[in-house]
Amino acid sequence: MKETLEKLQSHAVEMINNAPDGEHLEELRLRFLGKKGELTAVLKGLGKLPDDLRPVMGKLANHVKEAIGEALKTRLDRLAEEKLAMDLNEESIDITLPGHKVDAGSIHPISRVMAEIQEIFIGMGFAVVEGPEVETEYYNFEALNIPADHPSREMWDSFYFGEGLLLRSHTSPVQVRVMEKQEPPVKVIVPGKCSRRDAVDPTHHWMFHQVEGLLVDRGVTFADLKGVLLDFARRMFGPRRRVRFNPSYFPFTEPSAEVYIDCFKCQGEGCRICKQSGWIEILGAGMVNPKVLEIVGYDPEEYTGFAFGMGPDRIAMLKYGINDIRLFFDNDIRFLEQFA
Ligand code: PHE
Repeated sequence: MKETLEKLQSHAVEMINNAPDGEHLEELRLRFLGKKGELTAVLKGLGKLPDDLRPVMGKLANHVKEAIGEALKTRLDRLAEEKLAMDLNEESIDITLPGHKVDAGSIHPISRVMAEIQEIFIGMGFAVVEGPEVETEYYNFEALNIPADHPSREMWDSFYFGEGLLLRSHTSPVQVRVMEKQEPPVKVIVPGKCSRRDAVDPTHHWMFHQVEGLLVDRGVTFADLKGVLLDFARRMFGPRRRVRFNPSYFPFTEPSAEVYIDCFKCQGEGCRICKQSGWIEILGAGMVNPKVLEIVGYDPEEYTGFAFGMGPDRIAMLKYGINDIRLFFDNDIRFLEQFA
């Protein structure tokens, strides 16, 4: 029996040391140490031995068991080391190879200008809100004091879906949505897309952007509107800008104005950008018409407010000296990547 055990041990250890992987090792473990394994089979014969030999053989058998277990563990560790070394070798990075060039995108010039405008008004305490691009006639017109037969609807010749739905022709409907939902004070700006049935040419596109502003509270005056817009003009176009308000008409503001800044290119001298006038129109504005306040359920005796709306596309054209609005929406990468 001693011989059998010794043979078993040397045979097992040899096979273990040559096992190519963990799977084979497991097979070997079962074969030698498992319940139906070879060592177990030998141990079963211990009972038949004479009393004086039994403890000696038992001890030897235990020793063999330990030796095989030890061999298994050593081989397993060894295999893991080899695998790690191989992986490291395969995955090693050759830092002398040239890298892959990653093309970085750039922010669209309109998005840039929109973000800049928003930053300025956020700095003045305005909240940014958005509204639906598909609007009802009620919000786009009626609630803004533009009744169905009103000639001013021609100003916003629109895309209709039928059923009283249309692509909003300005961001002013969001004024109404905001006021319907909250009590004054209201202090918001509304960036977004608008559409009108304009023929596309260098200065018009059927889709364009607006940033609307609305402030309603007790005691708001036209002077507040002027102060906010002057501050905006100077932050956006330079600290020495002046603003000019010309009388204008919008059904939802009274009085209304179109607002100009002195030309930031020629400082008002007259140039190509300002068409020799020294002034550039940048937005429409006015005091919120009391009729609109009534429509949303505000008491016009208690509250007043101002609103304004500007076109970031035009502002971007002026700022970057771009003479064709279509360039913004053609998605020509050669144009867009110049703004990286
Ligand atoms: N909604 C107007 C337009 O699209 C601009 C505007 C907004 C004018 C707010 C006055 C007040 O032309």
